[in-house]
Amino acid sequence: MQKEKPVSFSGIQPSGNLTIGNYLGAIRNFPAYSENYKCFYCVVDLHALTVRQVPAELRRRTYETLALYIACGLDPEKNTLFVQSHVPAHSELAWILDCFTMFGELSRMTQFKEKSAKHADNINAGLFTYPSLMAADILLYQTDVVPVGDDQKQHVELCRDVAQRFNNLYPDTFTIPEPIISQSGARIKSLAEPTRKMDKSDPNPNAVVYLLDDRDTIIRKFKRAVTDSETSVRYAPGKDGINNLMTIYSCFTGKDFAAIEAEFAGRGYSDFKLAVGEVTADALAPVQAEFRRLMADKTYIEDLMRKGAREAAICAARTLTKVKKKLGLVLI
Ligand code: TRP
Repeated sequence: MQKEKPVSFSGIQPSGNLTIGNYLGAIRNFPAYSENYKCFYCVVDLHALTVRQVPAELRRRTYETLALYIACGLDPEKNTLFVQSHVPAHSELAWILDCFTMFGELSRMTQFKEKSAKHADNINAGLFTYPSLMAADILLYQTDVVPVGDDQKQHVELCRDVAQRFNNLYPDTFTIPEPIISQSGARIKSLAEPTRKMDKSDPNPNAVVYLLDDRDTIIRKFKRAVTDSETSVRYAPGKDGINNLMTIYSCFTGKDFAAIEAEFAGRGYSDFKLAVGEVTADALAPVQAEFRRLMADKTYIEDLMRKGAREAAICAARTLTKVKKKLGLVLI
């Protein structure tokens, strides 16, 4: 099939509220992609089932995630926005890819090791085969590039290995995708433990700034951010807390570290923390207003879900049919 533009595919879980880490590391960069790529954005509700979910919350977050993508600037006319479970080809291809993914490969996945330590009472097979479903997401659309945070790089690499293996057996089936790891803000850290990634499912609410936090909450969280015992605002090894705040400030203002150091020379950490809180709250205000407008109109969101699922299903069916034919499954 001839492609008009290269394809970009990305997914975000509806399992928790999105954070400024997700925003700065990924979503904020998405709108620009539609100039050069045919873009698919998928709310991966099936991946969310690998940990226990409260049904009403999963449902609400699925709407919210889609609304947030749009509020962050993704135009549903220029991008295909859809929900994973609305396109059954994802589950179908995932099973097939399971049969081409090795136990050893899945065992080496860092996310599996981390999640199974965290959910020791529920180390289910879905958690283990999570990367095959993710590979299905990506490969169904003959994806060229996958914009992700760097914690997902290993999964994209496994996807490439599986696609290559499949292509070696059945030539010209899948496009081999490249990960695109966002540089700036790719690794926004927790405000409470700045050596760790800011994680939307962190049990400590002060560690994480959510896109939907109100202004007072945002400022309060930054005020409480853990820093070192020095006083000067400068970017240096070991100053993880300050480095993280400087990264956030830099992402929202476009200023580089030298400019930030000059701006806050001779001023203490508390001035700086307040400033980081204010620029964050200012930057998020328009996103939040648009989000609230969309969430007030569920029918509109459902219409978009249907439109996205129709568009996605056409591309997905093409690849799935090709795969089934190559494998010798009987098509009727
Ligand atoms: N695993 C990704 C995450 O947790 C979400 C995801 C699922 C994804 N399928 C994908 C990302 C396909 C990129 C492409 O962040």
